Amino acid sequence: MTDHMPDDLSAVGRDLRAYTDELRPQHAIVKNIAGEWVLLRHAEVVAAALDHERFSSAVSRYLQVPNGLDGDEHSRYRALIDKYLTPAALAPFVPEFERIAAELVSSLPRSGTVIDAVHDIGAVFAVRAQFAWLGWPQALEAQLLEWMQQNHAATRSGEQAQTAAAAEHFDTIIRSVLAIEPTANEALTVTQQLCQEKIDGRLLSEAELVSILRNWTGGDLGSMALCIGVLVAYLITEQAHNPELLQQLRQASNKELELFIDEVLRLDNPFISNRRVTTCPVHIAGRDIPKGARVKLNWTSANRDSRVFAENSFKPKQHAANNLVYGIGKHVCPGRTLATWQLRIALQALLQGIDSIKQAPNLALEREVAPVGGYHFVPIVVS
Ligand code: HEM
Repeated sequence: MTDHMPDDLSAVGRDLRAYTDELRPQHAIVKNIAGEWVLLRHAEVVAAALDHERFSSAVSRYLQVPNGLDGDEHSRYRALIDKYLTPAALAPFVPEFERIAAELVSSLPRSGTVIDAVHDIGAVFAVRAQFAWLGWPQALEAQLLEWMQQNHAATRSGEQAQTAAAAEHFDTIIRSVLAIEPTANEALTVTQQLCQEKIDGRLLSEAELVSILRNWTGGDLGSMALCIGVLVAYLITEQAHNPELLQQLRQASNKELELFIDEVLRLDNPFISNRRVTTCPVHIAGRDIPKGARVKLNWTSANRDSRVFAENSFKPKQHAANNLVYGIGKHVCPGRTLATWQLRIALQALLQGIDSIKQAPNLALEREVAPVGGYHFVPIVVS
């Protein structure tokens, strides 16, 4: 066991997965340069995620609803949020998601122009689909896309001042949405419904609303864009081994495609980790960790653990039950259905709307750098 081993690499171009793949056989846990204990294997990541008593989610000094809450308080907010994200609540939005995806694909340039799958497809689709769900005005689309770039740059820089500026910019966007009054005779948007929600007999405060909406947009739009980048990267590289891949996927059922997407993301999970803090001394992965220790559950590494996923083979059905892309335990992603449907709809629109999708000649795919996973740049041409 080596202490003070970084789990994050800042060397541009280094595939973070390769690094944790190297560490994992020898180390179930490493301490990174920030002093955080990073769990790398499936068994320990699952154990910590399920141990809500000893591994608290109250890791931030900022209000985080519901991800920074524990115990009953977390359950009450979670019940409020979950009802917006059930299959029944989301089903009415599917035709609109399909329309947005088809329109985006049909607008992609065909004449050999290079398209970046992460930004030109992933980010744009994620923002438009989420706006349609939340009922946000189209006029804000450009501002949100700009914010995504700003937030991304801030995360990559690790600079607190940049991160604070991005957070403030985002809160300003959300407050402008909250100020929009419902229109008479029109159904309330999801955002307006949320504004009328009560907790403990009172309306949600503005700070709580901002936090919830930040969770539903801020972090997740970036993850969705990265996921689309990972999926498209898989399509263009895998066709070298399987020239029939696009045709096979065109014939797959919704369920089969969703399993396929989950398995691609399991092997290259761009949503790398979540944090916890120990509430008492804990013995885990052969180490004694003190109370108050900061712990990271590295989903990306756990998802590639060969103790669970035989030699990292591609087996969508067999691996589904142990897949940790959306987490596990009380904090498991409530947006899983929404994310899965949106990713499937985006992929179907691409498969149906184009004949071929290839890596752009003479341009390399660029990996993201820690703490973000997936790709920064996936250059493609479509016809
Ligand atoms: C592909 C995209 C997504 C990925 C990979 C992802 C992944 C995750 C993971 C791993 C967690 C567990 C966090 C933890 O244990 O601390 C989580 C939590 C969460 N996710 Fe997602 N997510 C995605 C999309 C979404 C979407 C679209 C939404 C909502 C619209 C959403 C809302 C949330 C919320 C609110 C939590 C906190 C839940 C809690 O603390 O109880 N996610 N997500």
